[in-house]
Amino acid sequence: MNPSARLLALHVFRHNPRDTASSPRLVIYQLEETPGMTLFIALSRIRETLDPGLNFDFVCRAGVCGSCAMLINGRPGLACRTLTAELPNQINLFPLPGFELIADLSVNTGKWMRGMSERLQAWLHLREEADVDAVEARMEPELAESIYELDRCIECGCCIAGCGSAQMRTDFVGAVGMIKLARFRLDPRDARNAADFFDLIGDDSGVFGCMSLLACQDVCPKQLPLQSQIAYLRRSMARQALNGLPPA
Ligand code: SF4
Ligand code: F3S
Ligand code: FES
Repeated sequence: MNPSARLLALHVFRHNPRDTASSPRLVIYQLEETPGMTLFIALSRIRETLDPGLNFDFVCRAGVCGSCAMLINGRPGLACRTLTAELPNQINLFPLPGFELIADLSVNTGKWMRGMSERLQAWLHLREEADVDAVEARMEPELAESIYELDRCIECGCCIAGCGSAQMRTDFVGAVGMIKLARFRLDPRDARNAADFFDLIGDDSGVFGCMSLLACQDVCPKQLPLQSQIAYLRRSMARQALNGLPPA
């Protein structure tokens, strides 16, 4: 025991909805803070030394897979990228709201993301039959850079958990859905036109359901330009809806 080390109190939500004997509760774990400790390290230490039954998700431990997202003192974030040194002694951990609870801090973001992707057809619709022998057409570096920027989404679910619209409307595709379509709309290889994109997100489950609450951009761990992309999509689709004009 290091006498100068902080003693952390992690108040962790526990519940397994598949266990009829389980009921939602908070369990308090006390843990000595060590230098460079992340929440992922703290939770792993709890699981190794105090409670092997604690459920939480992780894969990469490097902010790449998006699986360790949770509510950290009320704010969505990645456990593996959050230093305990940035937090007070009492740390409250809850599963991300808006997703099916698997158990404790583990939620099924994969099921939600898959449903959203299928609904929005969030994949490249090639203009012509792909010819594997053909050299891919050159793309301007600035355009490739813009597409790459939007491709950095790790589907962590933080933008859904932080969004009031997403919490009120289960069919709202959220910032993650809108940014995916913005990405394909930019891509010159995608065969879909403005009307096709309008059909996919030109309603209250898409751009017109967004109330500009801005939390999505605040909590996105990849600092994606969600606001500017959503604003662009909304302007463009409002123009189409109101005036029958082609989107800008
Ligand atoms: Fe996570 Fe950001 Fe992608 Fe939302 S847009 S899922 S917050 S990386
Ligand atoms: Fe939600 Fe972001 Fe819009 S928080 S309401 S998607 S600006
Ligand atoms: Fe992959 Fe945290 S474990 S993002």
